Parts: sequence; C-alpha cells; structure tokens
Amino acid sequence: MLGLPFWAGFFRENMKYNELPIEEMLVALLNWYQSGHRDLPWRRTKDPYAIWISEIMLQQTRVEAVKRYYQRFLETLPTIADLARVPEDRLMKLWEGLGYYSRARNLKAAAQVICEVHGGQMPKDYEKILSLPGIGAYTAGAISSIAYALPYPAVDGNALRILGRAAECDEDILKEKTKREAAAALKPSIEQISSKYPGENIPGMINQSMMELGACVCIPTGEPLCEVCPWREYCGARAHGSIMEYPVKKKAKKRRLEDKTVLLLLTGDGVLLHKREERGLLAGLYEFPNVEGHLKEDAIGPLMEKWGLAPFSISKLDSAKHIFSHIEWHMEGYALQVSVMDESRLRRLGFFAVKGMELKEQYSLPSAFGVYLQKLFKLNDLPI
Ligand code: ADE
Repeated sequence: MLGLPFWAGFFRENMKYNELPIEEMLVALLNWYQSGHRDLPWRRTKDPYAIWISEIMLQQTRVEAVKRYYQRFLETLPTIADLARVPEDRLMKLWEGLGYYSRARNLKAAAQVICEVHGGQMPKDYEKILSLPGIGAYTAGAISSIAYALPYPAVDGNALRILGRAAECDEDILKEKTKREAAAALKPSIEQISSKYPGENIPGMINQSMMELGACVCIPTGEPLCEVCPWREYCGARAHGSIMEYPVKKKAKKRRLEDKTVLLLLTGDGVLLHKREERGLLAGLYEFPNVEGHLKEDAIGPLMEKWGLAPFSISKLDSAKHIFSHIEWHMEGYALQVSVMDESRLRRLGFFAVKGMELKEQYSLPSAFGVYLQKLFKLNDLPI
C-alpha cells in the first residue's frame, strides 16, 4: 500500500486543474485501486500487444462485450506478426460486431510497421508508439504505462469525467485541447509519484485506477457513488452540488439522415452480396444490395429488371435503423426470390451469390445490416 504523502497540494501556474492537489489525489486513488478492482483479462498481462488490442477494442465497446472478442482475437492472432499478415476478410470477420472497422485495418497497418521497422516487437518508446497508424495519445499512453511503466497519462472519457467533475472544468471534454491540458496536468504528478516507488508500475496503475474510478464510481450515466469515492473530499462538483453539470460536453452536430432500401435477393446459388467501395463509410465491407431512398413495392420490379434479375416472389421486411457517429440509416427492406437473367450484368454491378455457411463463416457484414441478416437466416431459403 502506498502511504499518503505530505508533499501534496502543490500548485502549478497557468494550467487547468491547477487548483487541485493532483499528486495527493492520485495517491489516494492508487490506495483505493489497490484495495480492490475488477479482475479483467487485460490486467493479467504485461504483453504490449495484448494491451494494445484491448485498448482499441475498449474505445468503442463495453468491457463485458470486449472480453469475448479480446480472447478470440488473441487466440486467432497470437503475435504481432500474425496480425501483420492476416487476410483482410479474416480480420474483418474477427472484428464483426465491434464496429469502426477502420480501427481493425489500422491495427494491421501498425502491425506491419512494427514488423518492418521494429523487429516485430512493440517499441518501448512513447513517441515511436504514438507514430504508429491508429494510435493516438490515449492509446500510446495506455500501452507505454501499462506494459512498460513509462510515466505517461492515458486520458480517456473516464479520466476526463473524474477530472472534469473534481475541477469543475468548464472546457468541452470533446475538444483535443482539453484532453491535452488534462494530460499535461497529470504527467508531472505521475513522474513524481513513480520516482518515489521505483519497484512498482505506478504509471500503469494510475491510468487504470482513473479508468476504474470512472467506470465503477464516477459513472457516466446516472448518479455517481460519491460516498465511496476516494476523491470525495477533493471534488469541486460534489462540494457545490454540480455533479450532473460536469463534465461539459458540447452538443455534437446533428447526424445526417439517409433513407435506404435493402434487398435480400435469393438466387438458386445463394444470397447476393456486394463489396462496398474501399473509401468512406464501411469501406471495403460486404453488404446486401441496397439503394438510396425508400422504394415502394411497385418500384422493385423495374429495379430488378435493370439489375438483370427476374423476381418470382417478394415480401416486405421490417424497417430498421442504424446509428453511425455522423450518419443515421433508416432502412426498409424486401426479400425476393429471383432468377438470374444476365450473369454479366450482375458481375458488372459487383454482385455475387454466397451460400449460408459461407456467409456465416467467411463474410463479415456490418451490424447495420444485422436485422436483415437475422431475417435471412430465419427465412431458411438459403442454400447451405
Ligand atoms: N477502458 C479503456 N481501457 C480500459 C482498461 N484497460 N481497463 C478497463 N477499462 C478500460
């Protein structure tokens, strides 16, 4: 256990959070963390690769859901070299359901750099880690501190919430500048405390303890559990009854709404899929053929003719909505049994048929199409 030091309470000029005794607070937080925390799979390892994978997954998905993905990913691709050479479709399949597929592509790109430039080992240098594709200040800080005990902060939403409340910080936590300032305020204290306890991984523990406090006590939705908070005596928002006003998050811009009609086209050879363009939303992923707008049933026939297909049954499917960060898809759908009249036209359109097992095992469809994928398997009309 670390003792509460008497060197707490120093102030730095011209910095956000400068009125808080940050070192003292971090030591109190470490003591709290060491007295009990969640046992998470990525907290049982010092392997920078495993920590990196967990951090990227945790940026977009809840801890409970990540556990399963994390384990499968590392079983399938146990080393950075395995990740560097994994085929794209296999990688997308491993990532299916996690969303933000560009993160998976960046993982592979970074693994290739690590193999080509750093001999297959995650570099032990913060700046070199930061320069890898898809790795920003947060992830570089998390890997450096947790795997290598380097004294860098990892300022994520949890850290910003606990600091934002404690300091009653009026800056927008979604701004990069706010994150930079919070990291700058933390770094000297992390260095100071680490230098006093050379045998322990203080930076890693400080960063994890901030995540823990944000996830378990100073929670993002609902009332925080202030009575059990190690910062209860320091927290400005608690003292002033302003907890729910912090952290400050300026409203994001409104999402663009897009209407779509999704078509489950069942041929004798399987359901038709299409590979999306290599740029933009869901780049390079597979999808069910779809068109802009909400088509009425009488518009489907002419569309099929244009695509070289002859429908012999049609049924309307449920509507579905999918929310991306900047766009919302409002989808309607139809399932059609079709005969292929013009193979070459289908090829030109980039459509191809896949059977049920192939679809399950080899193709990754973004969760935006989840409602229609489930429906397809329920229809039971798909050749195996
Ligand atoms: N959220 C982001 N990184 C985390 C970690 N290492 N442990 C728990 N929650 C997290």
